[in-house]
Amino acid sequence: MERYRFFATTIRGLEDVCAREVKSILGLPKLPELGWGRIFFEGPLEAVYELNLWARTMHKLFLLLYRGRFESLEDIYRAARGLDYTNIIRPEQSFAIRAERVGKHDFTSIDVASTVGQAVIDSYMASKGVRLKVNLDKPDVEIYAFVRDDEFLLGLNTTGPSLHKRGYRVFKHPAALRTSVAAAMLYLSGWNGRGVLLDPMCGGGTIPVEGALMTRRIPPGSFRGLEFAFLKLALFDPGDFSARREEALARSNRDVFHVIGMDKFTAYIEGAIRNARSAGVDDTIRFLVGDATRLTDYLAEEPTHVVVNPPYGVRMKLRGLRKLYRAFLASLSEATGSCRLVVITSARGTFRRAAEAVGVDVLEEKKIMHGELVASIFLCQVGEGQG
Ligand SMILES: C[S@@+](CC[C@H](N)C(=O)[O-])C[C@H]1O[C@@H](n2cnc3c(N)ncnc32)[C@H](O)[C@@H]1O
Repeated sequence: MERYRFFATTIRGLEDVCAREVKSILGLPKLPELGWGRIFFEGPLEAVYELNLWARTMHKLFLLLYRGRFESLEDIYRAARGLDYTNIIRPEQSFAIRAERVGKHDFTSIDVASTVGQAVIDSYMASKGVRLKVNLDKPDVEIYAFVRDDEFLLGLNTTGPSLHKRGYRVFKHPAALRTSVAAAMLYLSGWNGRGVLLDPMCGGGTIPVEGALMTRRIPPGSFRGLEFAFLKLALFDPGDFSARREEALARSNRDVFHVIGMDKFTAYIEGAIRNARSAGVDDTIRFLVGDATRLTDYLAEEPTHVVVNPPYGVRMKLRGLRKLYRAFLASLSEATGSCRLVVITSARGTFRRAAEAVGVDVLEEKKIMHGELVASIFLCQVGEGQG
């Protein structure tokens, strides 16, 4: 079977989690190579169907067209001009170049976009005698040019808008977590459907909804219908993709799982229920209004996996945050004999001090970019570990 080279973008700091997920979905013999907010790997063309349908931590999947070093804009032109675009863009289709640049250069990202755009037009004209149309608003084909220091990457976007925009969110919490970050935290917690998953400060329900989708084996890409960039590309077969999607949905798991979402505000819980209903997992999650600092008042069962995105302190004063983190960790230690806890916060010092004061073991800290914010994901053990 013919192998293709790909790269995928993901959350910066969680490349390893995304790499493990991609390896598992595609059954790759080895882990993808880790880059800066992206991973690189080889696979069959069907990887485009499988990853766009199943990946929970990936943002966009690109067919790798070129990867190399450069010194000047002329090198970038030569690299892009040397490629054949006739098998990915039909003569009647329009295209756009999206450029991103990081590092010190004597040119801008707009210069990169126009240089690569000209190279694509010149290459196509030389092979087919057709001048391709550029459409920056609604192109049929989107090519990404990434320049970072002296590295130049060119990729064909197979996804379209980022996969973290799942399409089921009908209620948006003011501090909503990205679905891809929630999924990565769930993987880190080891949640596999056995035991009790709890998000005690769930807001609009992103974590419980993603946790339920995972264990029910519902493909996250099934909510955007046929809104994928690859469906416009000559290389792919929309019928094959639709068949895979239908088959995946028919095989989703209808067993009973224990997933609990809690928040102290009724309005957020109502919003979370709407999101869960829209994702088709409202029958898998028990939502309740409650206080995360008094868990034993609300829970009949001991949580085994707690994944949570507490307030960071952007709106809350430091003293209140300190009190909340300590009281929550103390309450959790009382509510369970043993559980894996995964927390995301940008108040890393406050969280570490609270964990130490309460006797919760921090096993690992991962620094990530959540939007424009640097945040830490803490992987912790509450009570005795299960070995
Ligand atoms: C950062 S938001 C969570 C956002 C959520 N992950 C989402 O994607 O929609 C933090 C949530 O913690 C809730 N919260 C704060 N203190 C709480 C407490 N003591 N008990 C329960 N919920 C609390 C807030 O109401 C807020 O909805």
